Amino acid sequence: MIPLFKPSLGLPEEQAVTAVLRSGWLGNGPRAAALEKKLARLTGTKYAVALNSATAALHLSLLTTTKPGDEVISSSLTFVAANQAVLQAGGKIVFCDCDPETLSTDTADVLKKITPKTKAIIVTHYGGHPADLKPLLTVCSKKKIALIEDCAHACGSYYYGRHVGGFGRLGCFSFAAIKNLTTGDGGMIVTNVKRLAERIRHLAWSGISSSTWARYRQAGPKAHRKWEYDVTDLGFKYQMNDLAAAIGLVQFNKLKPGNGKRAAIARRYNLAFRKVDWIKPLTIKPWARSSHHNYVIKVPAKIRNHLIDYLHDNGISANVHYLPNHLYKMFDKFPQLVPVTERVWREIVLLPIFPDLSKADQNKIIKTILKFR
Ligand SMILES: Cc1ncc(COP(=O)(O)O)c(C=O)c1O
Repeated sequence: MIPLFKPSLGLPEEQAVTAVLRSGWLGNGPRAAALEKKLARLTGTKYAVALNSATAALHLSLLTTTKPGDEVISSSLTFVAANQAVLQAGGKIVFCDCDPETLSTDTADVLKKITPKTKAIIVTHYGGHPADLKPLLTVCSKKKIALIEDCAHACGSYYYGRHVGGFGRLGCFSFAAIKNLTTGDGGMIVTNVKRLAERIRHLAWSGISSSTWARYRQAGPKAHRKWEYDVTDLGFKYQMNDLAAAIGLVQFNKLKPGNGKRAAIARRYNLAFRKVDWIKPLTIKPWARSSHHNYVIKVPAKIRNHLIDYLHDNGISANVHYLPNHLYKMFDKFPQLVPVTERVWREIVLLPIFPDLSKADQNKIIKTILKFR
């Protein structure tokens, strides 16, 4: 079976993990701090906090920027963690549509849905294609709305030449197993707001007033009194551990070449499907450089599931990301005005894309698809 996604892992990751195991320090420590520095530099932000997932990143983002009862505009075509985070912070979801050409958040629809109660907007850079942020930045700064970028797919994505994540108030990254940069599971928040970075770091470590690593390194006559800290807030155990961070540091160096390979794979698919009237690849907008986290084609809704079944029968994985969140039972009570999402999700098919996908396998995928009709 050709998988849909596959992480690129090798000896360097094994060696990095072994080094951490041998160091005796497995928890949040110097490697997590080093990875934070790298992502802050990549995104041009001042602060980064390493976490155990983008789910945690989104939760803490909403918790630190909204209050119970606030409205939060968020895409329906996303992973459910983003919308659950709104509810975890006590907010009300106002679902917005996606752009049918990129599947990222549709800025125009967001602008229409802003009310005086809107306190945050979660923008989804779907598949690594940056949403059009400029019109939102102006409005958000004028109306004091927190713009939260969901960059789970967008490690190595650029908007007008600048890496995503630092445009909004907070940027949330995922390093889950299938992401362009993986640590097995992991995530990070980037921001330019010191107060938010400090608060998020604090909440991610159970509301404890100092990190274990900092206390461990403390010098002085009372340095052995490791219990002398205060707990000031209701927190969470959301930190990244150094085993994960060590993998992330190796993966960081692979990000650019890996995304380059993804781009080449996407180009080959686009070329192969160019003249096929029943297949429509997504569009890359002029402002965008995508991480190509996934590769999506749109096909007529009535054949979509048959195509996926047929690919499966031929040893090729394909999938649909995502079933729109507003259709899940738990979101029943929120307004569901997303006609584009309702139409387009029925047409989408994700095809295999990952840096180590061989040409032979890609040729097989293309040939099999072209024989379908
Ligand atoms: C768009 C989006 N947001 C958030 C997440 C949550 O990421 P994580 O698995 O790191 O919690 C994902 C994960 O797939 C995602 O695709």
